[in-house]
Amino acid sequence: MSSLAGLLSPLEGRPHVIIVLGKGGVGKTSTSILIASELKTQGKTLLVSFDQAKHILRYLNLRRSMEIVEIDDNLSACQLDIEASARELTSRYSDLVAELFPSLTVLNLEDVTKVLKYAPGVEEEVFLRWLADIYENREYSYVVIDTPPTGISLRTLVLPRLYLIWLDKLINIRERIVSLRYVISKTLGREVKVSDPALNKLYELKEVYSKVKDALSSASRTSYVIVTNPEPLPMFELREILNFLDSELMMKPKLLVMNKVLPRDVATKLGTYDEQARAIEEFKSIQYRSVMIPYANNPSSRLEDIVKLREFIVVVRG
Ligand SMILES: Nc1ncnc2c1ncn2[C@@H]1O[C@H](COP(=O)(O)OP(=O)(O)OP(=O)(O)O)[C@@H](O)[C@H]1O
Ligand SMILES: [Mg+2]
Repeated sequence: MSSLAGLLSPLEGRPHVIIVLGKGGVGKTSTSILIASELKTQGKTLLVSFDQAKHILRYLNLRRSMEIVEIDDNLSACQLDIEASARELTSRYSDLVAELFPSLTVLNLEDVTKVLKYAPGVEEEVFLRWLADIYENREYSYVVIDTPPTGISLRTLVLPRLYLIWLDKLINIRERIVSLRYVISKTLGREVKVSDPALNKLYELKEVYSKVKDALSSASRTSYVIVTNPEPLPMFELREILNFLDSELMMKPKLLVMNKVLPRDVATKLGTYDEQARAIEEFKSIQYRSVMIPYANNPSSRLEDIVKLREFIVVVRG
């Protein structure tokens, strides 16, 4: 029996965050569960799912999203409800706008909130806020993150860097406004307000995003696991993710997982043997720690079945 946790070690930093990436349907949720169920023997573990399909609720027999549920003493799980979090986030934004710029309340902020909810980037923002909170949470030693489809995940992982570029510009503009206001007030002999709530908010955001950005590019805080299948599209996404980690985050994956490998006779019967063999050959040539998991006959949809997959893991590169 192979230990995924063993292949992932050492996992420094508290909490150490394991981000599981890969194309839709390859087995990200199953792999996340496998990893979390091993790590819990080494320390308090939280499994968080950002997967909109909410499969984890079914796998773990959970009823409700959003709450952290204790599965046992050392393992807790949580399904993020993107819709509910987006609603909460957008209403917080409109409260913030109302507080910082009271003159804008002549606009109907409720309408603004409704539109914001569907604005591009809200899901990524929700995902990112959770990530920021997760890195600050000292209750768990390990947090395993089951991600949404590749596009959203990768966009989210670069957001902190983009935000920091915008924030620096905004801070610069706001600092000029504040200092101008100061000069004008002084000249007119009016009372001068030293602190500016909008500027403070910008400083606060900068601190939050700097921390997440650093954590996402730190091997001692974050491990990336990429799951693929022996098929062309999942392999294409694997290469995309590898390029992304390297070029955007300057990170290497900790572990690659090729899931759902069919037995030779079955693949031959299905006419996919050559395709599978090519994918496996390419997979084996990638120079990172990697494992293969065979296709199980009874598709695993319960925690007990998923954990059984562990017995069949084959280490390709240790
Ligand atoms: N090794 C395996 N053998 C057979 N079936 C598997 C295996 N791994 C996962 N599955 C099945 O494949 C389906 C997809 O798995 P899983 O939900 O883990 O993938 P996912 O990448 O999280 O999918 P999504 O992108 O939809 O969230 C599930 O029905 C699961 O039971
Ligand atoms: Mg999933």
